[in-house]
Amino acid sequence: MDPFTVLVLSLSFLLLLSLWRQKTERGKLPPGPTPLPLIGNFLQIDVKNIQKSFTKLSKVYGPVFTLYFGQQPTVVLHGYNAVKEALIDHGEEFSGRGRFPVLDKIFNGLGVIFSNGNTWKEMKRFSLTTLRNLGMGKRSIEDRVQEEAQCLVEELRKTNGLPCDPSFILTCAPCNVICSIVFQNRFDYKDKHVLNLLKYLEENAKILSAPWIQENCNQELKYTLENLTVMVNDLFGAGTETTGSTMKYALLLLMKYPHVTAKVQEEIDRVVGRERSPCMQDRNHMPYTNATIHEVQRFIDLVPNSVPHAVTCDVKFRNYLIPKGTTVIASLSSVLHDSKEFPNPETFDPGHFLDGNGNFKKSDYFMPFSTGKRVCAGEGLAKMELFLFLTTILQKFKLKSLVPPKDVNITSVVNGISLVPPHYQICFIPV
Ligand code: HEM
Ligand SMILES: *[C@@H]1O[C@H](CO)[C@@H](O)[C@H](O)[C@H]1NC(C)=O
Ligand SMILES: *[C@@H]1O[C@H](CO)[C@@H](O)[C@H](O)[C@H]1NC(C)=O
Ligand SMILES: *[C@@H]1O[C@H](CO)[C@@H](O)[C@H](O)[C@H]1NC(C)=O
Repeated sequence: MDPFTVLVLSLSFLLLLSLWRQKTERGKLPPGPTPLPLIGNFLQIDVKNIQKSFTKLSKVYGPVFTLYFGQQPTVVLHGYNAVKEALIDHGEEFSGRGRFPVLDKIFNGLGVIFSNGNTWKEMKRFSLTTLRNLGMGKRSIEDRVQEEAQCLVEELRKTNGLPCDPSFILTCAPCNVICSIVFQNRFDYKDKHVLNLLKYLEENAKILSAPWIQENCNQELKYTLENLTVMVNDLFGAGTETTGSTMKYALLLLMKYPHVTAKVQEEIDRVVGRERSPCMQDRNHMPYTNATIHEVQRFIDLVPNSVPHAVTCDVKFRNYLIPKGTTVIASLSSVLHDSKEFPNPETFDPGHFLDGNGNFKKSDYFMPFSTGKRVCAGEGLAKMELFLFLTTILQKFKLKSLVPPKDVNITSVVNGISLVPPHYQICFIPV
């Protein structure tokens, strides 16, 4: 036989072997497209538009299907029923954290976001208590956010109504809130400390995990410090860009839809007035503003596939058997874009969260923070920040776009696991 034939024959043999292996291993995993050896289903997925690929696949294989990223099977949950049934009804089993090979190295499975088992349980309890209660000091979290909102508008005033890219300032504000909660201290927006903070924290994590630290010293203390450092890191990582990007996107959408902005500003004028700082109490009397913020979060779909989960044990789910440790992806996007719950889901319309009388309408499909045991630990804080920051900005400024509203481009850009707004310029005109 010539070498070419040998090559073709061996390749076909490998292909068959791998298909056969996957067939038997797949046993009772949910259905899905046939994976190729080594690369799995990569060719069947448009990485630039994963949401669309998932929707297409769910039409063929149903709301629960299996994809292979390389050799590893991943179960995808598509649509409200599947996501709810897994993350809520089978909450405990689906509460594991899927693996991120890169992050594993950095975080060592510590902290809260990327940890599993008991470490996760302890850390989540700790972060929820910290964030829910008064922060670590005497002042309430609402106080701190209100203070930050005032600093934010002062900083925006310094732009003198000239065009600016608001990204940096809008990201500083939520970062400062976490500083204020964790360290009792906010920083000036120009302070080098803010810029270096994440670097220091990273440095800390490295030093604390270095093998030479106090070999024979208190191991437990070392672990606690190490875990805490990673957790503080987690809070900054999870709580800064997310809230910042949401606010940045909110202002862009408000420029695009001035009639929405006008209604929100009318409500602020009526309920809060021009002088007093908005507070959380006000939200009860501001259904339109509340609905607009919900619609921003629904529409922008910031974390379309949440953060990967994993099953903590072998789970029987809808007649399938998902083996312990299998990665699970919950498509939050498919829930936020459900066309029965939110007619014309691709359209930005605060009406999605209002009833016929203009009252706020709650929806179980509103899950930009995910749901179940792994639900975002900062949900309450994030909602508070979005409400107080946005109403304080709109109380003090008119938003001016450099292009006519119809030309404002609101197409998102993929950034890691999130969808962020494009760069833009805006003018904050004092009212
Ligand atoms: C608009 C802002 C935010 C959005 C859209 C958001 C969204 C999310 C999502 C989708 C997850 C993954 C949930 C899952 O695994 O199913 C998550 C986890 C998490 N978020 Fe947020 N988040 C926001 C703000 C914040 C803030 C302000 C903090 C804290 C200061 C925070 C802390 C966390 C933590 C600690 C986790 C990990 C929870 C766990 O693994 O048990 N997030 N967030
Ligand atoms: C910190 O993490 C380690 C695992 O690396 C764990 O053994 C230890 O119990 C954790 N400590 C705390 C206080 O959570
Ligand atoms: C505002 O939104 C929250 C959920 O974030 C909801 O619980 C509340 O009922 C809403 N209130 C009004 C009056 O819009
Ligand atoms: C909007 O921006 C995206 C990328 O950010 C670009 O691909 C698209 O062509 C833009 N659309 C218009 C109408 O300019």
